[in-house]
Amino acid sequence: MNILHTENLSKQYHHKDGIVGALKNISLTAEKGSFVTITGPSGSGKTTLLLTLAGLIRPSSGSFSLMDKNLTLVNDSELALFRRQNVGFIMQSFALITYLTAIQNVKLPLALIKMNKAMQQSKAVEVLEIVGMGMRMNHLPRELSAGQQQRVAIARALVNSPSIIFADEPTGNLDPKLSIEILDFLKAINLKNNITVVMVTHSPVAAEYGNVRIHLDNGEIK
Ligand SMILES: Nc1ncnc2c1ncn2[C@@H]1O[C@H](COP(=O)(O)OP(=O)(O)OP(=O)(O)O)[C@@H](O)[C@H]1O
Ligand SMILES: [Mg+2]
Repeated sequence: MNILHTENLSKQYHHKDGIVGALKNISLTAEKGSFVTITGPSGSGKTTLLLTLAGLIRPSSGSFSLMDKNLTLVNDSELALFRRQNVGFIMQSFALITYLTAIQNVKLPLALIKMNKAMQQSKAVEVLEIVGMGMRMNHLPRELSAGQQQRVAIARALVNSPSIIFADEPTGNLDPKLSIEILDFLKAINLKNNITVVMVTHSPVAAEYGNVRIHLDNGEIK
């Protein structure tokens, strides 16, 4: 199955200083279970591509589908529901909610799909244990190290049992040793649970983890 498919996907940002062509005719396909890496210089469109594929921003033209569902054709609420059910997202800056504990952060995506409280609790504990954070569930983000915060962010991305995880520079803020740990972890869930991973990275070491490698330059695939 093609979990990811795009045809001539383009994105222009309309800014008061002019139009920015951030993505130009991106056509790509990835099979379920792929580990896709996206590299390219700063400003080449990596984050824009990731956000578009994850359904967080709309393309200007072209089409894209996840799990054989053409998401270009669905309305905003259908898109949000699809995302909550099937997609996990890890951001570079972790984006944990500062006043919520680790476990409260991890439960958030489940609250959004209105899962009952007992199920939320058991699913959240399960994924926190998988990422090795079972002992720190009741810590606030500021009471965790950077690597631990990133593991909580990964737990949050995993908690809805997504088919596909999008990660923007997931190791950008971590030292080399922790980066390898997080990358190995992503690779392990990719292989073990057959979860497709799409990861933006600047690091050549991280890009080596991909079996589908995309290099962007000025909004185009090179
Ligand atoms: N909201 C926006 N409005 C207008 N232009 C934008 C917006 N977001 C990004 N851009 C422009 O689109 C282009 C692609 O940006 P994008 O964030 O996708 O790059 P990137 O490859 O992720 O860069 P980096 O490696 O620095 O994170 C850049 O030229 C940027 O200035
Ligand atoms: Mg970026």
